[in-house]
Amino acid sequence: EQDTRIAKISSVIRVIPDFPKPGIMFQDITTLLLDVGAFRDTIDLFVERYRGKDISVVAGVEARGFIFGPPIALAIGAKFVPMRKPNKLPGEVISEEYSLEYGTDKMEMHVGAVQAGERALIIDDLVATGGTLCAAIRLLERVGVNVVECACVIELPELKLLRLTTCVLFVSDFLCA
Ligand code: PRP
Repeated sequence: EQDTRIAKISSVIRVIPDFPKPGIMFQDITTLLLDVGAFRDTIDLFVERYRGKDISVVAGVEARGFIFGPPIALAIGAKFVPMRKPNKLPGEVISEEYSLEYGTDKMEMHVGAVQAGERALIIDDLVATGGTLCAAIRLLERVGVNVVECACVIELPELKLLRLTTCVLFVSDFLCA
């Protein structure tokens, strides 16, 4: 049954060539959100994997981790914590820099949102180089949180390829350097 759901989810993710710049095959999950059944199946697949694993925190990476993270958090009975771009969160934050193709970016999390010893799941729509997820892992680990797993809807292991295979659900046991 799971295979049927993944094929359907994959089929409703739109791929837009050369967006936002030439050579990028943009994986557009907004078309997945338009399909009620496929969106529900996406959430259910994650919930089936993470329910009962004693996860108290779902951390969502801006921007599209804010779409998939909260329904998963509610369904498994965990709180939702946003990992945001710089200068968006109003309270005291801790931040982590990470490299992009050109230059660096920063990710921030509210101090006090999580406690040492909690078990967290990190959610984003897509992993390419893994730099974004690694920054999220570092932020949580710095405050003593145990990151159980990172999960994305789409995995793009080879960023430079023009033809990409979309939608590998569950990037499990994600490793970072
Ligand atoms: C995309 C995607 C991930 C990140 C993955 O975000 O949603 O967050 O890139 O790339 P990486 O594995 O190479 O780090 P984007 O930079 O497009 O930001 P946005 O979600 O705010 O649009």
